[in-house]
Amino acid sequence: MKALILSGGKGTRLRPLTHTMAKQLVPVAGKPILGYVLEHIAAAGIKSIGVIISPETGEEVKGYIGTGRKWGVKITYIPQTAPLGLAHAVKTAGDYLGRESFVMYLGDNLLSYGVADAVKRFRKEQTDALIFLKEVDNPKQFGVAELSADGGIKRLIEKPSKPPSNLALVGVYIFTEKIHEAIARTRPSDRGELEITDAIQELIRMGRPVKSEILDGWWLDTGKKDDLLQANSIVLDEYIKRSIKGKVDKKSQIAGRVDIAEGTVIKNSRIRGPVRIGKKSIIENSFIGPFSSIGDRVRIYNSVIEHSVILNDSVLEGIERLEDSLIGRGTRVLHSNHRHKALRLMVGDDSTIEI
Ligand code: TTP
Repeated sequence: MKALILSGGKGTRLRPLTHTMAKQLVPVAGKPILGYVLEHIAAAGIKSIGVIISPETGEEVKGYIGTGRKWGVKITYIPQTAPLGLAHAVKTAGDYLGRESFVMYLGDNLLSYGVADAVKRFRKEQTDALIFLKEVDNPKQFGVAELSADGGIKRLIEKPSKPPSNLALVGVYIFTEKIHEAIARTRPSDRGELEITDAIQELIRMGRPVKSEILDGWWLDTGKKDDLLQANSIVLDEYIKRSIKGKVDKKSQIAGRVDIAEGTVIKNSRIRGPVRIGKKSIIENSFIGPFSSIGDRVRIYNSVIEHSVILNDSVLEGIERLEDSLIGRGTRVLHSNHRHKALRLMVGDDSTIEI
């Protein structure tokens, strides 16, 4: 069995971050999302992984994954010239996948338990597709499944205006080679993409067995800011252990599960976990509250921060209270001492600022 990770795409919903970085490389609790995806696939015993990359962010993705040796897997990069849909990505990987069954994993999705059990179930059962469903509050934004009375799948619809259920398709699928035949019979949707939802619907129409499982663990699609903050909170809550490699002075207090990497200095500050702080950062006269992830070489002075993600090389100074925020790399957020209460901003394209 092989795996296919989809790490191309446009990432429009995470702009402006994705103007300069691949959305699959945005860190969650200090580790790029792709890192979790690769760990999950390797843990399922799969050794051969194809990675779909785009012309814009392919080099950066390659830079992170390399040969795959770190995860004990062999990587084949598959360029997709334009993001023409999830099924188009599978089609692009046709030669690589050949006649083997494969796990398809969206590179910006995170699952609590990974895929090892699902792979076992797929191997035991005679099915051409095993898909995962999860109840969501906003089914209009997903592929949605309509189940029949016996629990089988009656119909799958991509982003329905009138959802027949609140069961969304999770971004992990397991297929046999039959999916290629189904994709060949699928036409692009109204938004111009070759949809994997339509291809699975086509499998059902072809009379092939498609099985589903309702996911009981969490599933996070990190496409937007609030999803990313939620993913960060959940992963911090579940995985962070207390580990203090940096230097903490006597006037500082560290409470709960806080991970501080080497070279970081904490002066006269309070940190309340779960919090993760990367390497070579400085936190001075500040409070870092629960569910915050601070990157490498970040400097925070005289500020209060909670439930936020601050990426590498940023500076925050004199910020009374920052909450629910996502701050990109190399960003400066400073308090101004001017008497006029004017805002002075230099903001990148497609940014959101709430004042
Ligand atoms: P999406 O989040 O559905 O698409 P996107 O990256 O274009 O994002 P946005 O809606 O914000 O513009 O994609 C899910 C994953 O699949 C993501 O990791 C990108 C990847 N992908 C491809 O590799 N090729 C494609 O053609 C598409 C559509 C997505």
